[in-house]
Amino acid sequence: MHVDCIVIGAGAAGLMCAATAGYRGRQVAVLDHASKVGKKILMSGGGRCNFTNYTIEPNQYLSANGHFCKSALSRYKSSDFIELVERHGVAYHEKTKGQLFCDNKASDILNLLLTECEYAGASITSQCSIEKIEKIADTFYLHTNLGQYSCTSLVVATGGLSIPTMGASGFGYQIAQQFGLACTPVWASLVPFTITDKWQPIVNALSGLSLNVRVTCNKQTFNDPLLFTHRGLSGPAMLQISNYWRPSDTLLIDFYPSGDLAEQIKAWRSQGSKSELKNLLATILPKRFVESWLTETEAGRAVNQYSDAEINAVALKFHQWRITPSGTEGYRTAEVTMGGVDTDGISSKTFEAKTTPGLYFVGEVLDVTGWLGGFNFQWAWASGYCAGQYV
Ligand code: FDA
Repeated sequence: MHVDCIVIGAGAAGLMCAATAGYRGRQVAVLDHASKVGKKILMSGGGRCNFTNYTIEPNQYLSANGHFCKSALSRYKSSDFIELVERHGVAYHEKTKGQLFCDNKASDILNLLLTECEYAGASITSQCSIEKIEKIADTFYLHTNLGQYSCTSLVVATGGLSIPTMGASGFGYQIAQQFGLACTPVWASLVPFTITDKWQPIVNALSGLSLNVRVTCNKQTFNDPLLFTHRGLSGPAMLQISNYWRPSDTLLIDFYPSGDLAEQIKAWRSQGSKSELKNLLATILPKRFVESWLTETEAGRAVNQYSDAEINAVALKFHQWRITPSGTEGYRTAEVTMGGVDTDGISSKTFEAKTTPGLYFVGEVLDVTGWLGGFNFQWAWASGYCAGQYV
């Protein structure tokens, strides 16, 4: 079967690219090896798909070339995707910090994309395993379990390595290498941390507890909830900072970012309170957390027995917890893959490989990784749309 354009990967970026190209009158075939298409869309945002963010800025993306994402993000904005969502009558709401989620189900977004592909005349085939790709003159030949396909524009939209059970594969990186394109190192990101040192029993005992923190690592700071888990630390604050963390780095965590705990404790003391410190702290922080963070002696003493120096020392324990994670939970639970196809080899305008005319890369397979909050889908939409104008 010969078509103008083949898109490998029926995920967010691939479907967006296919629909856009189809509307231009290009004959498009999307091939995916998974049993069902768009699996990551369906599991995203806790089943409600955080499909974009009201405020998208290039500095919310990490890449060896921080400029690469700018062009596409400015040509296809979050307002463009919101307009599409509204046109399809998909109900949505802002959860927090500009993050937009479906009111109902993530399948609303997948159905929107499948409908767009249908309107645009792009065909979608699942359970198609691509065994070999050859380029002869201007034509790409794909040898698959369903026979041979050929095209003049080949789009690689195979995503990253996270959640292998959902169809993730390193195939996109292999295609890049086959055509002489470099890849930057890859690792799991937007991912929970594991803790195995002396803090492990404490963290484990607090499992399930969530509180707002300020976390800092490598000059980047986030104010978001932290969740203690049996294995370590999770929640939006930890996933966000994982984009900036490298093995053996220490996280600085402030458990009371909204105020000055030393001032607060001194204020209780000057009000003449005779209450135990743990009971007072439990009025502003979760009780279970306070009890595990204070020593027994600290917890049981009345606040009026504390000296300034002792108050400052206790406050520091809450404001400046330094913790060095032993690692992360890896691709099993990571939302994204940091790194990927080196953008130096790709045009930021057309997404075509500079040295292989007709070969395009879009979405997460590229070395562009966004923050948590709808940024990765916006990258998939923007890169897919922009490439779709040229394939
Ligand atoms: P994507 O992974 O969507 O699609 C790749 C497609 O390629 C898949 O259909 C796969 O089967 C196919 N494929 C892979 N190898 C192949 C091969 N060898 N042959 C044929 N096909 C192949 N982001 C966000 O902005 N908001 C959110 O709410 C979330 N939530 C979220 C939750 C979870 C649990 C995860 C794992 C991830 C998120 N993300 C997210 C991230 C987001 O899902 C991700 O960045 C995009 O799906 C990337 O889109 P792509 O199209 O590039 O890859």
